Amino acid sequence: MNDLIKKLVEAYGPSGFEEQMRELIRPEIEPYADEISVDALGNLIARKKGDGSGLKVMVAAHMDEIGVMVSHVTKEGFLRFTNIGGVFPHNLMGSRVQFANGVMGVIYCDKLEDRGKIHPLNKHFIDVGASSKEDCPVRVGDAAGFVRPFMAQGSRLTAKSMDDRIGCAVAIEALKRLKATPHDVYFVFSVQEEVGTRGAQTAAQALNPDVGIAVDVTTTGDIPEARPMDVSLGKGPAIKVKDAGMIAHAGLVRLMRQRAEESGIPFQLEVLLGGSTDARSIQIANGGAAAGCISIPCRYVHSQSETLDADDVENGVKLLAEILANPLAL
Ligand code: CO
Ligand code: ZN
Repeated sequence: MNDLIKKLVEAYGPSGFEEQMRELIRPEIEPYADEISVDALGNLIARKKGDGSGLKVMVAAHMDEIGVMVSHVTKEGFLRFTNIGGVFPHNLMGSRVQFANGVMGVIYCDKLEDRGKIHPLNKHFIDVGASSKEDCPVRVGDAAGFVRPFMAQGSRLTAKSMDDRIGCAVAIEALKRLKATPHDVYFVFSVQEEVGTRGAQTAAQALNPDVGIAVDVTTTGDIPEARPMDVSLGKGPAIKVKDAGMIAHAGLVRLMRQRAEESGIPFQLEVLLGGSTDARSIQIANGGAAAGCISIPCRYVHSQSETLDADDVENGVKLLAEILANPLAL
């Protein structure tokens, strides 16, 4: 699975600019899906038909990643930029970004009077090697994603954009392994999650599922001076109970736990104090859906070295496939 993960995490795809991700994912799912469609926002939707006895289920994993967008080009050819999603200034100095056209840039910041303090985003700039506004190869409105190679060290996997390409990998792999299902399952590779779960919102609105399951990352409490949280790397995928945007459907949480226990899949229970996922949008679309989330525990979320454990990924695939292969009595 590492080959697939590497391919997905190293690809370009800031929110709103997911077309390269779509092109990567489509051939992975095509042999296993009964229907594939792309909606107006760019969600890539793969349908796996059931035997007619089950429910309509939407699985969501977001293709987009955090990034930056050029807001101003100086006459010397440097770029000022704004954030796409949750980009933190303390992760920026010296980082590299890439635009859709392949142009690379280096991020630095204005002179620091006090090295103990970090400049806000608007006092950072991107250097793309231009010497004037005229010869600058990118312009206002162009978006860039961060660049970092995928790294595997033992069972630990590190990359930019594990959030949420790992969710995409889990969904792809679960679709591949899902031989038969009672449910009409729609795997939605969603857009614009990082700017407010917008793709999942329109997809859920259109599909009107009975059940929604997001696959995303969650933070952990297992690093120095972390905010206390009972989720660690390597102890299994986390079944979300609550985050800042939703309370997972109690019946679905119960069923997820039951499936994990029956199948001998290790799991953790997640109460996340900040942040949310596509499940939030699915839950409140139309007349509502029973929504929950399988979270892959991840350290350093929204940095360029998001780190997780391959065993949790594998067990996440197993758990999702078990849930989808069996009846959903909620
Ligand atoms: Co995120
Ligand atoms: Zn995410």
